[in-house]
Amino acid sequence: MPLLLDRFDRTIDYLRVSVTDRCNFRCVYCMPEEGFPCTPKEEHLSAEEFARIIGVAAGLGMSKVRFTGGEPLLRKDLPEIVRAARDAGVVDLSATTNGHRLPEMAEPLAAAGLSRVNISLDTLRPDRFTAIARRGSLEIVLEGIRAAVEAGLAPVKLNVVALRGINDDEAADFAAWTLREPVHVRFIEVMPMRWNLDEGPSMEAFSPHGGAGLLQIRQAPGGMLSDADMRRRFVPCEELMASIEAVHGKLEPADLRTNGPARTFRLAGAPGTVGFISQISNDLCSRCNRLRLTHDGFLRGCLMSDGELDLRNPIRSGATDEEIRALFEHVVAHKPERHYLAEGQRVTGRGMSQIGG
Ligand code: GTP
Ligand code: 5AD
Ligand code: SF4
Repeated sequence: MPLLLDRFDRTIDYLRVSVTDRCNFRCVYCMPEEGFPCTPKEEHLSAEEFARIIGVAAGLGMSKVRFTGGEPLLRKDLPEIVRAARDAGVVDLSATTNGHRLPEMAEPLAAAGLSRVNISLDTLRPDRFTAIARRGSLEIVLEGIRAAVEAGLAPVKLNVVALRGINDDEAADFAAWTLREPVHVRFIEVMPMRWNLDEGPSMEAFSPHGGAGLLQIRQAPGGMLSDADMRRRFVPCEELMASIEAVHGKLEPADLRTNGPARTFRLAGAPGTVGFISQISNDLCSRCNRLRLTHDGFLRGCLMSDGELDLRNPIRSGATDEEIRALFEHVVAHKPERHYLAEGQRVTGRGMSQIGG
């Protein structure tokens, strides 16, 4: 099996496939209340087009595929795409979802060959859930998590984006969950994205952990946190780790199968684990193993650097598999050494929901 190797000796064996830019949530760090203008339907890749590209990627040794969005479960044909990826020989098939459609989709997705899911959940408190996600309900997401566990989509990982004054006091509560159940909680450092450059109203007067403070999130345009707010609300993972250890005792290093960028730990006797994804305070780029395919058919070497190559038009005008392979090799050859935040620059022209996180 050929393996894709980039200029910095990184083996590229993981493809993140964003199947839609639409979402049924409006998380304050990701989207304004009105959402972003969505790509027209005809510019989204079809299930067959995704299957074709994933087949080529699998032939190049990309053995892991993760479906992302937007919210990937909004695509009714996701099980069909999953099945095609499995048939192409992809062994590690996963999805990152907000969990709201999992109660009805967990079972069909598992039957189609999905191995596991990562579920975004930033708070365990219903009022905060409403303030952060602004759509859906905490209860349904919790039901979705149970459905995923029951469908055998293991390990179930939870992604918690840490925001100062909004949910940073819940780290120990999330960690307590890992003492009871085999859930794998990962705290993620928030990443400011390019397009919200306005400063927005000052958040300096924000009262940490206060209910009243949460309402102030809504004062930013479209209710989305500005870049400046995200920087102000940044919580380094080390701090969360300390607050967990203060309540629950030592976090011991643990090995979790299927680990990507997270550093993983376990509380004594816990069936679950606690992980940290610190793309800001740590260098994840040196072991980055992934490419990204956008919902509209562009292949990117990096989440936060702008280079991307159109695969959709070549495919729609009859490109051969060999030609698509060459496009993959081109993107790998130009994969940047590190992302723009590490360089102190902003470059990406797309937002998180349009790239797939
Ligand atoms: P596993 O294979 O289960 O470990 O998945 P994962 O952690 O790679 O995927 P997930 O979709 O759950 O992503 C979790 C967080 O990691 C998100 O906030 C992503 O934005 C971030 N992340 C994922 N890939 C990259 C990357 O290539 N670069 C950076 N900087 N962050 C990433
Ligand atoms: N910074 C960090 N994580 C983010 N996510 C979405 N936007 C951001 C951001 N600005 C997370 C989601 C999801 C994962 C794919 O990325 O919560 O869990
Ligand atoms: Fe939707 Fe995920 Fe963005 Fe939240 S972070 S609005 S769930 S795409």
